[in-house]
Amino acid sequence: MKDLFDKIYKDKGPLGKWAEQAEGYFVFPKLEGPISNRMKFRGKDVITWSVNDYLGLANHPEVRKVDAEAAAEWGSAYPMGARMMSGHTTLHEQLQNELAAFVNKEAAYLLNFGYQGMVSTVDALVSKDDIIVYDVDAHACIIDGVRLHMGKRFTYKHNDIDSIEKNLQRATKLAEQTGGGILLISEGVFGMRGEQGRLKEICALKDKYNFRLFVDDAHGFGTLGKTGAGAGEEQGIQDKIDVYFATFAKSMASTGAFIAADKEIIDYLKYNLRSQMFAKSLQMQLVIGALKRLDMLRTMPELREKLWENVDALQNGLKKRGFDIGTTQSCVTPVYLKGSIPEAMALVKDLRENHGIFCSIVVYPVIPKGLILLRLIPTASHTLQDVEETHDAFSSIRERLENGTYKRLSAGVQASMEASS
Ligand SMILES: Cc1ncc(COP(=O)(O)O)c(C=O)c1O
Repeated sequence: MKDLFDKIYKDKGPLGKWAEQAEGYFVFPKLEGPISNRMKFRGKDVITWSVNDYLGLANHPEVRKVDAEAAAEWGSAYPMGARMMSGHTTLHEQLQNELAAFVNKEAAYLLNFGYQGMVSTVDALVSKDDIIVYDVDAHACIIDGVRLHMGKRFTYKHNDIDSIEKNLQRATKLAEQTGGGILLISEGVFGMRGEQGRLKEICALKDKYNFRLFVDDAHGFGTLGKTGAGAGEEQGIQDKIDVYFATFAKSMASTGAFIAADKEIIDYLKYNLRSQMFAKSLQMQLVIGALKRLDMLRTMPELREKLWENVDALQNGLKKRGFDIGTTQSCVTPVYLKGSIPEAMALVKDLRENHGIFCSIVVYPVIPKGLILLRLIPTASHTLQDVEETHDAFSSIRERLENGTYKRLSAGVQASMEASS
């Protein structure tokens, strides 16, 4: 009989197998210093384009003060236990009410982590006779929620309305046999490529098909819409989103998340979200910190204006220089280049070591083979000087990519990767 660990010794998994070449530099890098537009990487100053602190709240003095005072008053334990048992407080309720009002829904419920909360919400919304229809490029937390589903699920081509409609037709036929309903899940903003989910067109399909819409708006909340209420507000269909989700991990620069919907739906979910019913309540310091951040989202539109000034400057400048930034409709700024994985590694090293630019790198299998995606997240704490330096750096690396410099520099890496794959 095999030892359970045999497979682990042999195969570290699709990402783990590159650990030797990548760990500490391309994956699990250590960014040091206060979270801001410029941090330290391996002792060197870098402009950070890989932190989702959209509104620059992470290190805002007012936020830091409230966080510190809340930690001093409450510590990190209070309240103990799950919300249902002993972890419920008036401030949890207040935050829920304020979040619901902000995103224009009747009610909201807090989640300890967005990821677990999404998994549980998908799980709680469907039973085995129901059918889930979701985007093939959905975030891992949606996929994991769908994995728990005991009934049928259909993926549609990424953000493709024809494919959505075809799958709604298939789902409708099946639901008529099973006696179930249909849950359609989209993201408000797709975090890799930056496109907004086609929520307006999806909602228009509600006239023809009977389904409920669940939107993960992790990247849209706080960044999109007239008041920052997200992709639904931006597209004018917030009222047609049946269940809205956002995390505190991005524009709120914290930990935690929430769902918002009609009161009756939230009342149901709060008694049926397993990851919340059987896990400790969100700590008070995070609740108080979230109330402060939400207040700033509401009352300081200048944060969002500064964010968008930087987004526009970054994206327009890249486009002007002929870079392919795909079809982004959000702050997420992808730059697509052609090259192999070893070339991408040499290029990113050049960006970090010689130009002081730190951004994330995405390669196959997340995107097609032969493409390199450099992902930049502009924030309100960046400056136009940061943007200009980054434009110049990108022009330089493109030149070196095209003249074969990175191919030459990465010849050794290429050989070792071929040997280990
Ligand atoms: C689209 C999306 N959904 C959900 C999550 C998970 O949220 P959290 O970090 O709060 O677990 C993330 C990542 O933060 C995300 O990008």
